Amino acid sequence: MDKKAELKIDGETYYLPVVEGTEQERGLDISKLRAESGCITLDIGYKNTGSTKSDITFINGEEGILRYRGYSIEELCEKSNFIEVAYLLIYGELPTKEQYDEFENDIRRHTIIHEDLKHYYDAYPQRAHPMGVLASMVSSLSLYYPESLDPNPPEDQIDRHIRRLIAKITTIAAQSYKNSMGHPMMYPDNKLNYAENFLHMMFALPTENYEVNPTLARALDMLLILHADHEQNCSASTVRMVGSSQANIYATISAGISALWGPLHGGANQAVIEMLEKIKEDGGDSKKWIEKAKDKDDPFRLMGFGHRVYKNFDPRAKIIKSECDKVLAELNVNEPILEIAKELEEHALSDDYFAEKKLYPNVDFYSGIMYKAMGIPTEMFTVLFAIGRLPGWIAQWKEMREGKEPINRPRQIYTGYNERSYNPIDKRS
Ligand code: SDX
Repeated sequence: MDKKAELKIDGETYYLPVVEGTEQERGLDISKLRAESGCITLDIGYKNTGSTKSDITFINGEEGILRYRGYSIEELCEKSNFIEVAYLLIYGELPTKEQYDEFENDIRRHTIIHEDLKHYYDAYPQRAHPMGVLASMVSSLSLYYPESLDPNPPEDQIDRHIRRLIAKITTIAAQSYKNSMGHPMMYPDNKLNYAENFLHMMFALPTENYEVNPTLARALDMLLILHADHEQNCSASTVRMVGSSQANIYATISAGISALWGPLHGGANQAVIEMLEKIKEDGGDSKKWIEKAKDKDDPFRLMGFGHRVYKNFDPRAKIIKSECDKVLAELNVNEPILEIAKELEEHALSDDYFAEKKLYPNVDFYSGIMYKAMGIPTEMFTVLFAIGRLPGWIAQWKEMREGKEPINRPRQIYTGYNERSYNPIDKRS
């Protein structure tokens, strides 16, 4: 017997099916509520609303649990690599050796971008924000692969677009950095793995030899794993929303990139470093800034803290924090803002305001310090987040398509004027 919830409206009783997930999460199915009662539900910001059923990622915000297709983020960081995790998210299972080699080799061979795309960079201002460049360039890929406009392409064509995107996003991103530095583009080196190749394209120069530091490459690979998916976050929901209109995959991913750019979402890693630098310049008094973050009349927020779902430590933040210590020690880097970050965390976690509101460090709090240690410029931090999140966006888009979900079109409660008549302009005061 399927469980049902009872809802009473004006003396009438309506029955809402209770949907239970594999981790015992429960939701009320309201898909027939409007037809039966004339009512919709209202949940501004979708804080309590499920938009879909998904097999991809499980988060338990109260316990700080994150799993991709059932595998814990801790185990994947320790035993897997980003390309294998991308395969897992997109196709649902860990690949066999043969499947992995074919997927990984395909991505290596598709990192190079069409020569004509290089000329787009000549038109971008040197100070163009790389997230704006990335969103534009990814959308422009649809112009070079017009077959992607077919809303019902064969599966092997979808696979080609998926591999192209994962391959080319690193080249496009690195080139936006080279363009901002006035340096020539570095072509991909297919002898290198995904993370190594990105660092090569970012920092190698035709005039001098560049050896990829294996510690940095491994740390970058782990950061990409940590960012790979996060269920129905703002940008993943954007991808499902745009994809539901049957827009092509490149335009859909470009929309996800734009949603991620916001400082409340993926842009927070850049905002955290800017905040830490500001606190350092202000004398490093972390307690003063904690008080500012608590002050309702002060617009300052502790960037990298708080989360819509995690009401405990973001497991990703814990992993990044410990990796941060290791990487900076190995690089013999003394990073003053890391000490400020640790002081802020210590003061915040012992403060009632943060404890009551269950505000803990999120994925963005320490990631920027790692990127900074790698020599990645601050404006590129959210680009690294996008590179990591791409397989998650693709997995969400693929699941939405395969589930034949309807075009997303929410309802509203209208609160504007009732009907009124037009009055001529000379009669208006
Ligand atoms: C990401 O959804 C995802 O999964 C996202 C992400 C992913 O992997 O895709 O995890 C990546 O986006 C991480 C979050 C990065 N953003 C930031 O670090 C920006 C700073 N954090 C906040 O802006 C905020 O915590 C959010 C946006 C992350 C979550 O906001 P919510 O869930 O809408 O909560 P809220 O803004 O209503 O805050 C609840 C209360 C408020 O106080 P009251 O009005 O109840 O008195 O907590 C306060 C807020 O003022 N609060 C903070 C705070 N975050 C929340 N106060 C000070 N500093 C903060 N950082």
